[in-house]
Amino acid sequence: MKILNEIIANAQKAQKRIVLPEGMEPRTLRAAEIILKNNIARLIILGNPGLIREEAEKLGVGLGKATLVDPVTDERRERYASMMVEIRRNKGLTKEEALTLLNDPLYFAPMMIKAGDADGELAGAINATGDVLRPAFQYIKTQPGVSVVSGAFLMFINDPNIGHEGILVFADCAVLPDPDENQLAEVAVTTARTAKAIVGCEPRVAMLSFSTKGSASHIMVDKVVNATRKAKEMAPDLKIEGELQVDAALVKEVAQLKAPGSEVAGRANVLVFPSLESGNIGYKLVQRLAKAEAIGPVLQGMAAPINDLSRGCSVTDIVTMVAITANQAAAII
Ligand code: ACO
Repeated sequence: MKILNEIIANAQKAQKRIVLPEGMEPRTLRAAEIILKNNIARLIILGNPGLIREEAEKLGVGLGKATLVDPVTDERRERYASMMVEIRRNKGLTKEEALTLLNDPLYFAPMMIKAGDADGELAGAINATGDVLRPAFQYIKTQPGVSVVSGAFLMFINDPNIGHEGILVFADCAVLPDPDENQLAEVAVTTARTAKAIVGCEPRVAMLSFSTKGSASHIMVDKVVNATRKAKEMAPDLKIEGELQVDAALVKEVAQLKAPGSEVAGRANVLVFPSLESGNIGYKLVQRLAKAEAIGPVLQGMAAPINDLSRGCSVTDIVTMVAITANQAAAII
């Protein structure tokens, strides 16, 4: 796929340092070999170096140029712990507690980024989303002007007439269980930025609901209507339409009936779901039933790139997500 090739080429140029906290995980090690062989990123792999090398040897994987770092013994622990105490001063974190947290690679990795010792992180092949995200939220936090992190998926549909040449960007499918109207507006704006930066398209954002332009009235519809208005205020140049049912967002004939004259309806390339339930179920339905390739979640709104994998991820998914993380670190995304 053309876009994926561009993402890999950008990563090769950027040569960012990506930290992989799940150093003993076989798919991660197999992906690391591919990433290093193809010069996609510089890798820092966390864990006990002796055990990682043993596991790599068992798998027949070469980790030649990777830097192996043990969070339990690394000499930077003291410095990182002091930084953690400072960041969590208002939460009363003690140095002792910080040192204990640093034994966990999911805390050590964001602290490497915070200290400038790494540029991005990818985890989640064996850890739940919440466990990957919590340390990132606490120590990396959000970008200026953004209050919530959300997760987008690039959906590659087998029909070039849908979205942008067959690509749709879905959000939020990974993070915010029940966004309020302000958060939903932010998700719309940050997802539009992700679409522009990764897919290279002019975003046309549909704010999804079970109602189109007043066809139903309900408090849940009001949330989407208000979020649409707020997103337009936040980004007046953005093409955004709501509330729309998904058929009105994607199908021209339906759009003509339900939302005539809209710049977005019938040709949306960004779909913003009203809740995590709908977003997470929606992307998995399209992935499994329409056999679309789903890449992500690409986390948006974080102050540094940290991405989360699905535990069902493949080696190829890990390679692609490292490349996307490197693109984000290079501020290409
Ligand atoms: N953006 C930025 N910061 C956040 C966000 C967010 N979306 N959510 C929580 N935070 C911050 C909080 O402000 C808090 O900061 P503080 O400690 O400095 O005060 C910190 O993170 C912890 O907040 P909690 O509310 O205690 O976080 P909690 O751990 O309960 O929830 C989490 C965060 C884990 C991400 C939760 O929202 C969650 O479980 N989401 C669903 C994740 C999931 O399971 N997704 C589906 C699977 S993914 C897939 O299928 C691809």
